[in-house]
Amino acid sequence: MYNGKARAYTNIALIKYWGKKDKELILPMNNSLSLTLDAFYTETSVSFSPYHTKDSFVLDGQLQDEKATAKVSRFLDIARKKAGVNDFAQVESQNFVPTAAGLASSASGLAALAGACNDALQLGLSEKELSQLARRGSGSACRSVFGGFVEWEKGHSDDTSYAQVVPSDDWEEELAMIFILINDQQKDVSSRDGMERTVATSDFYDGWLETVSRDIQTAKQAIAAKDFQALGEVTEANGLKMHATTLAATPPFTYWSPDSLKAMNKVRQIRQTGLACYFTMDAGPNVKVLCQKKDVSAILAALQEDFTKEQLTCAYAGEGLKSLEME
Ligand code: DP6
Repeated sequence: MYNGKARAYTNIALIKYWGKKDKELILPMNNSLSLTLDAFYTETSVSFSPYHTKDSFVLDGQLQDEKATAKVSRFLDIARKKAGVNDFAQVESQNFVPTAAGLASSASGLAALAGACNDALQLGLSEKELSQLARRGSGSACRSVFGGFVEWEKGHSDDTSYAQVVPSDDWEEELAMIFILINDQQKDVSSRDGMERTVATSDFYDGWLETVSRDIQTAKQAIAAKDFQALGEVTEANGLKMHATTLAATPPFTYWSPDSLKAMNKVRQIRQTGLACYFTMDAGPNVKVLCQKKDVSAILAALQEDFTKEQLTCAYAGEGLKSLEME
């Protein structure tokens, strides 16, 4: 039996990853830039043993079905191949989220699994190599290997596509992200399916790709200059552009629900009162609000005029992937 355990935090993209040029290796069409956050994380342990007769996957105490286990097995196969072993594994994952409302993320989950496999199989991977490995499980997971601001360099092959820290002089310590949880009855389109359909069919996809590297440059300059307004503006604009591509897909779709729009409008209103805050959204109806730590209580108070306390969760900058002791 050989074991490993690791913890990884989730990250939210300020400049989005949206589209793959290689689905097998998970090579993205464009660079993306994210902030790792402290509020949501996953702890995963893995034990390989010649006595296990198959892979098993327990998530939050529940043994997972074949489909969920197969996804984990595909990732384990990549790690097993690197180590030259064939043993099956037991994987146990725990998501730590402040509320149950759909905030668990594949980014923290797959990054934690990559870290646990690295320890269990004694792969001795560097952070860059861990990021490459996590990427194979879920693209955005490669960014959760690092804390703070992180850029995923799209690369052109397995070993040239990985994330790295964006130097920030710890500016992220002054920032926060408020999550507005939106209850949504609609059936989800997963990020994987959504981006695939968009790349294949959206007339707006080329427009997205043409401007995203400029947005990355703008965001990096804003981080270097600690210019919150510039970072907020490019974050909001980039997110809106990503979501515009889905409307021009065939068949068209959107992650926005009526309450997402209500939240976006509220953020604009709060901004008009002089409090700097900007929104972004991912492959779901929740709205995330980028703001400065000093304004958190005023912004939370304003959001509470339209949303319940339970719908609001505040996160701050989080750290990178960490190995843990097995209990
Ligand atoms: C909208 O990383 O979940 O959150 O690589 O297929 O697992 P796969 O997709 P995933 O996509 C995240 C998309 C996004 C934007 C982002 O996080 O950059």
